[in-house]
Amino acid sequence: MDTEQVIDQAKQHFGTVLQEQLERVERLKSEGEWTDYSSIRPVIIGMIGGDGIGPSISEETRRVLEYLLRGEVANGKVEFRNIEGLTIENRASKMQSIPDDVLDAIKQCHVSVKGPTHTPEKGDGWPNIESANVSMRKALDLFANVRPVRIPSENIDWTFFRENTEDLYAVGSQGINVTDDLAIDFRVITTPGSERIIEAAFDHAKRTGKSRVTIVTKANVVKTTDGKFLDVARRIGEKYPDIEWDGWYIDIMTAKLIDPKRRSDFQVLALPNLYGDILTDEAAEIQGGVGTAGSANIGKQYAMFEAIHGSAPRMVTEGRAQYADPSSLVRAGAMMLDHIGYNDLAVRLHTALDICGMYEKKVVMTGRDTGATSSEFGDYLMATVEDPDLFSRRDEFENG
Ligand code: IPM
Ligand code: MG
Repeated sequence: MDTEQVIDQAKQHFGTVLQEQLERVERLKSEGEWTDYSSIRPVIIGMIGGDGIGPSISEETRRVLEYLLRGEVANGKVEFRNIEGLTIENRASKMQSIPDDVLDAIKQCHVSVKGPTHTPEKGDGWPNIESANVSMRKALDLFANVRPVRIPSENIDWTFFRENTEDLYAVGSQGINVTDDLAIDFRVITTPGSERIIEAAFDHAKRTGKSRVTIVTKANVVKTTDGKFLDVARRIGEKYPDIEWDGWYIDIMTAKLIDPKRRSDFQVLALPNLYGDILTDEAAEIQGGVGTAGSANIGKQYAMFEAIHGSAPRMVTEGRAQYADPSSLVRAGAMMLDHIGYNDLAVRLHTALDICGMYEKKVVMTGRDTGATSSEFGDYLMATVEDPDLFSRRDEFENG
């Protein structure tokens, strides 16, 4: 092929990408309203096992959540459903990142709590299908990835609002090898896509009494797309005169998160997808490891809550699945409770998780038979959550 033909072919491909994204922007502009869970009977909670240790920690999470919501289940306000089939074996055999029948079942639920799912990569023995997480975020339009990180002893209380459907992820599997030597990917940032995530961050700050929102980009270099994100922030910031906002570049932000003198100044952070992916792993590690954090994927219609760690297939092949720590998924479950309106239960469960996993640690998990099983930890959590002195027990650890 001569250069002209190569360019023509690439232009055609780019044309298709543009067409799809222009249609997507139009859909975003005519988006519906937020789901009002208080008017839904029953609110259906889908429990998605996933792969590896997923089914095991998901079962434990369901046990804890069902215990907390036993009254609501009994009076028909809440219903739990198990969703099978989001396993790597089934996804690979159907060659779909989320098989159609599984996606249908997920869409029959209002919210879901999802165990980890293996993300194939070239050469790992599985077909290189798209990540189930990425597909679900796109299919259910879960645009806000909300990831809280708290370290009370250091006065750290961060909430990350990571945009979850755009940036390099939007068309991450539609890049082109223009020639053998030239590969091009596309980065997508839209006005309505930026507005809704930045607005969600400011709203959260307002609702929770926070005074500052930090916008993270690399707008000095990535001028067009990050420039747009920052422009939108400037415009939205004006609507919240009581909340100050500032812009930081991702490189120095990454450094400042490990600066003990400065890091507790940050409160709510809003950022495009890939920067958010990286920065939230760093933040979770500072809190005590990626296994300690929960993650909410929120859209106007649906929401999905997940652990941020992987599926640990080795624990299963070595026969250790029952020793997998369910904390991160239970944490995600607590975020789900908050999202559907059970705020008091959510606070109790978060507090019990702090006590059991961070402070008191009467039952310790090691991931093997030297420590407790997930159901022993689940029992400990359920006993703690019911303790009338729950909050003073936590305060004693935090304030001495
Ligand atoms: C996350 C994960 C996913 C992401 C992977 C599994 C595709 O790292 O939820 O942060 O990159 O978003
Ligand atoms: Mg990640």
